Amino acid sequence: MERLVVRGGRPLCGEYAVPPAKNAVLPMMALSVALGGELRLLRCPRIRDVEEMAALLGTLGVKVRREGEDIRLDAGKISSFDCRHPAAGQMRSSVFLLGPLLARCKHVVLAQPGGCVIGSRPIDIHLAGLGALGVRFEWQDGVLIGNAEGARAGRYRLPYPSVGATVNLLIFASSLGEVSVFENVAVEPEILDLVALLRRCGAKIEVFGREMRVRGGVLQGAVWQAVADRIVAATLVTAVATCGGEVRLHGIGRPLLAPLWDKIENNSCHLTAWCDTIRVLSSGRGQAFSVCTAPYPGFATDMQALALAHNACAVGRAIVAERVFEGRFALARELRRMGACIRVEGRVAYVEGRRLHGARVRVPDLRAGAGLVLAALAAGGTTIIEQLAPIDRGYERIEDCFAGLGADILREREIE
Ligand code: UD1
Repeated sequence: MERLVVRGGRPLCGEYAVPPAKNAVLPMMALSVALGGELRLLRCPRIRDVEEMAALLGTLGVKVRREGEDIRLDAGKISSFDCRHPAAGQMRSSVFLLGPLLARCKHVVLAQPGGCVIGSRPIDIHLAGLGALGVRFEWQDGVLIGNAEGARAGRYRLPYPSVGATVNLLIFASSLGEVSVFENVAVEPEILDLVALLRRCGAKIEVFGREMRVRGGVLQGAVWQAVADRIVAATLVTAVATCGGEVRLHGIGRPLLAPLWDKIENNSCHLTAWCDTIRVLSSGRGQAFSVCTAPYPGFATDMQALALAHNACAVGRAIVAERVFEGRFALARELRRMGACIRVEGRVAYVEGRRLHGARVRVPDLRAGAGLVLAALAAGGTTIIEQLAPIDRGYERIEDCFAGLGADILREREIE
């Protein structure tokens, strides 16, 4: 087991190239299963979720090769449609294989998907949507078995704009000959990036707000660089706003950071964007800001932990409301160990900003882990962050990123 040792209180200064988004890359890796040719993903992030997805695809017969920064995925021969690999039970994104495997093999076997402990995370919308296209599902002892023999294009209105369900519907419909119509789909930037890639692969997809019309066919391989990771970028923006300093983020523009941008820009924090670079300049300890999470273009639930950590260290009071997942405030308990003043009532957290102190804390989930790093960088004294594994699912050695900006942070083996 490893842990991070952070001595807080230093400003952050320097430059950082934002990697492609995990939440775009994972569905794209899954898409490779449905393609007739090789998919090459440029500058694919070196994170645990990508490694696990690669391992899982390997068990299905996909040839996955890392070539420097890129990953090549060749699904010329698929040997299995059974995803009950040990990795799949742990990784939420194994659910992205539903649509691609049904498209390619007409059958799929999937274990109940795992993932972050942030809510019950049902997949009923995935199943109802694919069901509307003629896929039949049954559960046998916690195992999902899907059959797409006789599936055809259709129409489905999602009861909620689920990101994962939209991915599965888009990929599966892209393999069907006629036009499928989906209403109330997710329109996160990572989804629109997947739409752009599917078009490159040969699908015809029209987007009208939250409605998408998909005419599929035989899908070709492609070379693609996924959209920048707005959550990683938001981690750096909120860290600079909290700790002070000046950082330039390369490879990302202002639209991907809205609406965080408007919340965080104030007297002590200035953001400037030009071309594909954002500059964050802050005198530190910004103003607390209230947020309510919602599907895009609302405030991203994946940035909620960052907002909570920022507010815990900020000046003033704020309310943070979580409307997407039901159990996403485990961070509050850990921040309280550092002296934070946070009261949680159901899906709402009431925060009063304080100067935090170092403490021994544990990472409850991926985004909460980033929130803890942010708080530790701003706190007085030393913070020990234990049980790091969830952070590595979504960040490329987070300590290198912040050490490169002047923070005093290092990873060491946990002493048992
Ligand atoms: C994706 C992201 C995750 C992000 C989330 C919301 C990836 C790998 N993960 O997760 O980082 O936090 O979008 O932006 O891209 N729901 C149902 N039934 C379903 C599907 C979802 O009730 O069939 C509910 C969920 O329980 C949750 C909400 O809808 O409350 C949002 O889930 P969804 O948009 O599907 O998130 P994910 O695709 O799991």
